[in-house]
Amino acid sequence: MHIGIIGTGYVGLVTGACFAEYGLNVTCVDRDEEKIKALKKGKIPFYEPGLEELAEKNFKKGRLAFTTNISEAVNSSLVIFIAVGTPPRGDGSADLKYVEEVAREIAGHLEGYKVIVTKSTVPVGTGKRLKSIIGGALRGKNIHFDVASNPEFLREGAAIEDFMRPNRVVIGAESPQAAAILQDLYRPLYLIETPIVVTGIETAELIKYAANSFLATKISFINEMSRLCEKVGADVHVVAKGIGLDRRIGPKFLHPGPGFGGSCFPKDTKALVTLAQENGMELKIVKAAIAANEDQKLFMVEKMKSVLNPLGEKTIAVLGLAFKPNTDDMREAPSIDILNALVAEGARIKAYDPVAAATAKKVLPKEVVYAKDAYEAVIGADAVAILTEWNELRNLDLGQIKKLLKNPNFFDLRNVYDPQKMKEAGFNYHSVGRP
Ligand code: UDX
Repeated sequence: MHIGIIGTGYVGLVTGACFAEYGLNVTCVDRDEEKIKALKKGKIPFYEPGLEELAEKNFKKGRLAFTTNISEAVNSSLVIFIAVGTPPRGDGSADLKYVEEVAREIAGHLEGYKVIVTKSTVPVGTGKRLKSIIGGALRGKNIHFDVASNPEFLREGAAIEDFMRPNRVVIGAESPQAAAILQDLYRPLYLIETPIVVTGIETAELIKYAANSFLATKISFINEMSRLCEKVGADVHVVAKGIGLDRRIGPKFLHPGPGFGGSCFPKDTKALVTLAQENGMELKIVKAAIAANEDQKLFMVEKMKSVLNPLGEKTIAVLGLAFKPNTDDMREAPSIDILNALVAEGARIKAYDPVAAATAKKVLPKEVVYAKDAYEAVIGADAVAILTEWNELRNLDLGQIKKLLKNPNFFDLRNVYDPQKMKEAGFNYHSVGRP
């Protein structure tokens, strides 16, 4: 089968490379000529472990093609995935202008039956809207098509793994034919017994928002528990383990930290709240998760301020900037709000991130100075703060760090180190939710 993927961002490119790896013929389309040129040279415009190799291998085998010509993809494919951005608007709702633009372009090239699938996260009701947009553009022509929803559940930094071994595949289709075609697409997965949930389009669209909002709520829950733990002298990791052993809760996504970031949780939680409001109801739990996440970032600043008071003229070495490890993505990274608040209080920041420094420079205060490694960042600093749990930050030479610091203040905002060992090593050690 031949498929087309419109949009070569994080979701489109991972989807294209992985479907090609299954042996499908994939044509990836983007209107950005520079991006397509770079992709043809094997250059991926963002950091995602394993993606460059996977795309290059399938490109060389001729199973993965890149073009700016959407008609090429539409005419050669039975299934066309829409994987363009749905950026948040000011009011939190998702901006569908790119999705709708692509739908109109696809309609302009339809000559026979196709299944047009939203892969990007889109508000409930988008499938129905695309149906009327495409149907309107085809008025008078006797051309059949189906619209479907196949939401992605990919984590940045683990996207290929998540695509190849998903917990489930969700297909929202309006006809048995479209459902059968998409199930056939995922047949290689079915062979390893991946559950495939086949449902209506609105249900599939809502599953995506509900999943991300529930995961974000879990994170905000454990972050609030970490603050209570600090008050009562409990250990949040033992609380997380103690509740996570209950199979109804599960151990995942119960790691406290500086708050959730990324291009999904912040955007999708707000979009779901807006969707509910548009339908005359209030999602109090999701709203609370969003508020608790904002509080968590501010709480991290207060934690540092309580030790480095006043923050003015203090130098803080910040290790890790990306919203999570194994990505260069700075979208909604907690480091943005935290460093802005620290700089606003007069603190000097020396920052290090193994991968995200280049993207960070575009969004962090211009006063931030960047170091080539963790040790250079800590030289002469009044404190060091870990904001992203990169593997290389898990085994720092603590003796060296202590020697290079002006004062041995250590804020471990991802609980990478053991409090007892850090105190024995002579640090004034602070972490999240642990005595
Ligand atoms: C998320 C969902 O996991 C994925 O299924 C969906 O398709 C896209 O959104 P992603 O945003 O890439 O993936 O990263 P994820 O690993 O979920 O982490 C999101 C944020 O939550 C990060 O800032 C991370 O640091 C934070 N987090 C995650 C925690 O603070 N604690 C946790 O226990 C887990």
